[in-house]
Amino acid sequence: MEIISSEIQAKEVLRNYNDIVLVPTMGNLHDGHISLVNKAKELGKTIVSSIFVNPLQFGFNEDFDSYPRTLENDLEQLERAGSHFVFHPSEDILEDIKKRKASSLSRKMCGKIRPEHFDGVVTIVGKLFEVVRPQFAVFGLKDYQQFLIIKNLITLSDFEIEIIGSPIVREQDGLAMSSRNNLLTHDNRLLAPEIYKILNWIKDNISEKSNENLIKESTELLQTKGLTPEYLKICDPDTLEDLNHFSGRSLIAIAIKLGDVRLIDNILID
Ligand code: PAJ
Repeated sequence: MEIISSEIQAKEVLRNYNDIVLVPTMGNLHDGHISLVNKAKELGKTIVSSIFVNPLQFGFNEDFDSYPRTLENDLEQLERAGSHFVFHPSEDILEDIKKRKASSLSRKMCGKIRPEHFDGVVTIVGKLFEVVRPQFAVFGLKDYQQFLIIKNLITLSDFEIEIIGSPIVREQDGLAMSSRNNLLTHDNRLLAPEIYKILNWIKDNISEKSNENLIKESTELLQTKGLTPEYLKICDPDTLEDLNHFSGRSLIAIAIKLGDVRLIDNILID
């Protein structure tokens, strides 16, 4: 596995590869990230993973400084998983970067609480696309809204890239894996599986009750456990518009803060 640490080096080294699958990450890798590399492997092409903690996507009082950085361990995991290259640029990559605006989907769900977040994401992902020139890019469905917004970025900016969505990897108790799970207090870690449980409760009852009642009852259920979601939604998986009744495809999505740690999760009914 070769490590590439600058834009110039990336352009030079990757120049002759026309079959790249890009797996963008911010490091502190866990099995969720590694599942993306495994997904990439299925394509039998050249895998470029990237590690960059992108300051542009963190809000003013968010956790950029404390975001866990575990490069050595990340590199070991990527090598074991079979990544061919790792692109790990310094913050020089932000110099003269083309600032991009995320599509209007960025104003919904997480975008309401993190208004600049998705602009920061599309700015860095656009840059990675330009530098690495992948044929495919793999993103996790855990960050479902991000996945849709990158899909829009590809269409609106005429990137010739096929995006692949990869399923959510969970801990044994159902909690979606996240770099932020390690930051949970002991008590909040014990509460965290309630997030996936409530999503499943909604899914199991979705054809029995109106969506309004499902949201009301599940919010009350969470509140009995001391949990108040930032949002809990049943929406159209393409437009993220709220749905009133179950009529087939639905996304059940939640964001919730446990202490200082913000967690998101979803279930897609396809
Ligand atoms: P990061 O949070 O490191 O996530 C990198 C990729 O891993 C994303 O596509 C995310 O959806 C996926 N992922 C994380 N946890 C997962 C899980 N439990 N199961 C499946 N996939 C999972 O997302 C970002 O970084 C950044 O916004 C980035 C796209 C790299 C741009 O900076």
